[in-house]
Amino acid sequence: MSKDILILGIETSCDETAASVVKNGREVLSNVIDSQIDIHTLYGGVVPEIASRKHTEKINIVIKEALKQADVTLDDLDAIAVTYGPGLVGALLVGVSEAKAICYAKNIPLVGVHHIEGHINAVYIEHKELEPPFISMVASGGHSHLVIVRDYGKYEVIGRTLDDAAGEAFDKVARAIGLGYPGGPKVDALSKEGNPEAIAFPRAKVENSVYDFSFSGLKSAVLNYLNKCEMKGETVNQADVAASFQASVVDVLVDHTVRAAKDYDIPVVTIGGGVAANSALRAGMKEACEREGLEFYYPSPVYCTDNGVMIAVAGYYEYMNGVRHGLDLNAVANLKLGE
Ligand code: KG4
Ligand code: ZN
Repeated sequence: MSKDILILGIETSCDETAASVVKNGREVLSNVIDSQIDIHTLYGGVVPEIASRKHTEKINIVIKEALKQADVTLDDLDAIAVTYGPGLVGALLVGVSEAKAICYAKNIPLVGVHHIEGHINAVYIEHKELEPPFISMVASGGHSHLVIVRDYGKYEVIGRTLDDAAGEAFDKVARAIGLGYPGGPKVDALSKEGNPEAIAFPRAKVENSVYDFSFSGLKSAVLNYLNKCEMKGETVNQADVAASFQASVVDVLVDHTVRAAKDYDIPVVTIGGGVAANSALRAGMKEACEREGLEFYYPSPVYCTDNGVMIAVAGYYEYMNGVRHGLDLNAVANLKLGE
């Protein structure tokens, strides 16, 4: 029997300090997440300088806890996988520097991981039977990508957002209707009390590129609707606005994904990223896939939002593909997938 491979995954690209130990790419031994949401909520969004400082304070504690829960030591690790982009550069640097220091001190391999690659790979954790190829729709606070996963570590981006990311639209609309930060989960919860057909918000199509996304027009439509109501002195039904906005985002994400699966003749669909935790998206994608005869796999919400497990899983497959980074690995704020 071959030896077990243990990877420590480290994630600090935004406002979560996270570390996890994963065995053989799919078995979670620990998952420690220290969220900074409470502090950033005071400012209505993530403050980069505060994020970096908090990561510096927490990183050692979080890693120690991840090792403890997994009942392993640094000497048991086969490699360390760390997010090196995209994200806030000061935040990324904390994780990258920490990973490099441990790899140097313990003489173990370093594997840099793309954050979106992590989100794509999160789906493997609870679906041991799933293998590429499949279509992955990743929607987070900074990105909305439609990706063909050809093989482990082989990604072909066929669609991306041309302006706001889906999560960003959720956050901005939430702020406009007074729900505060982070918007996604709040819009999700409030939508359950609203009518998704109450207001006909646009379903944006991008001319000449069927898989790309654009959410800034939808965001403006919601803001215009709110302004008009205010000018006319009408009271706004927040739940209806939330539900109608959410329905528009979900329709577009589902439509593009199903279209890609059919066009490329790849009958397996997955989702990932913070927006994949959205209950309407999960239900809408499930229904559409059932209707179209596509297999559909999705991670539990805890693996949709940022975590270290997804980085360890993606790092495992990169490690098995022979990927190793040197101690000159740097944080890259706008890292492109596949580079
Ligand atoms: O993947 P993630 O944790 O961090 C980034 O990589 O950006 O995604 C965070 C984004 C935020 O915009 C947040 O509002 C959104 O995901 N989000 C949701 C839900 N939970 C988180 N959006 C819609 N519905 C949710 N339930
Ligand atoms: Zn993320």
